[in-house]
Amino acid sequence: MTVRVYASEQELANEVAKEIISVIKEKPTAVICMASGNSPKLCCESFVKMALLEGIDTTRFFYVGLDEWIGIPPAMRGSCHYDFQERIFNPLNIPSSQYHLFDALATNLQDECDKMDKIIAEKGGIDLMIVGIGMNGHIGFNEPGTKFELKSHIVPLDPITASVGQKYFDQQMTLEKGITIGFEHLLNTKRVLLLANGRSKAEVIKKAIEEPVTSDFPASVMQLHKNGSIMVDSAAGSLLLEK
Ligand code: F6R
Repeated sequence: MTVRVYASEQELANEVAKEIISVIKEKPTAVICMASGNSPKLCCESFVKMALLEGIDTTRFFYVGLDEWIGIPPAMRGSCHYDFQERIFNPLNIPSSQYHLFDALATNLQDECDKMDKIIAEKGGIDLMIVGIGMNGHIGFNEPGTKFELKSHIVPLDPITASVGQKYFDQQMTLEKGITIGFEHLLNTKRVLLLANGRSKAEVIKKAIEEPVTSDFPASVMQLHKNGSIMVDSAAGSLLLEK
């Protein structure tokens, strides 16, 4: 794992966008998995701008959504589905045949997990995964205590996630469970980028990088990834021992 600190959130976003573009250029059928939330927002904007400007062929990559809030309709602002649609699918005209997202309203959620695992296996694995980090160290909805060996799974949300998650919605929501891609997939992904911006992420970034690997602090899993990078702006990296 490497750690990279950027002067600004925009600089970080541009670097991530360049990585996405280079993965797609090298392998037009690449499988890209992304988190929603605030951390990847700017990099999605930069990626879309660069892809359009450079005339990149975006008709063949395949996109998988990292996670979803169970019970939240896909069209509701705040759902992960909504973010993916607004940030990537609409601006790049990506048809539904080019992505797979968890259906958080499905009656059989285990089937949703199995479907996601099967699709990832059939596509030959994930080429590039872009994730954020929660205030409890989660990645996706892999909450503290989640085993690293899990593929897609259903999770009771940690109280911190349920409370911080309210920021995405226009009204108070009941957030109890999530469905997420697990760390077995993350560890087998060819390249993983964990992004964080802002001073509020400085403590969790320090812990993820400098403390021992433990499932009690899920983002520490990044230390086990041979081709993973933690990419932060200077505020999120402000507590790191070596900068
Ligand atoms: C969202 C997701 C979450 C977020 C994390 C950080 O799809 O997977 O794990 O990445 O909670 O959220 P932000 O980026 O909003 O600070």
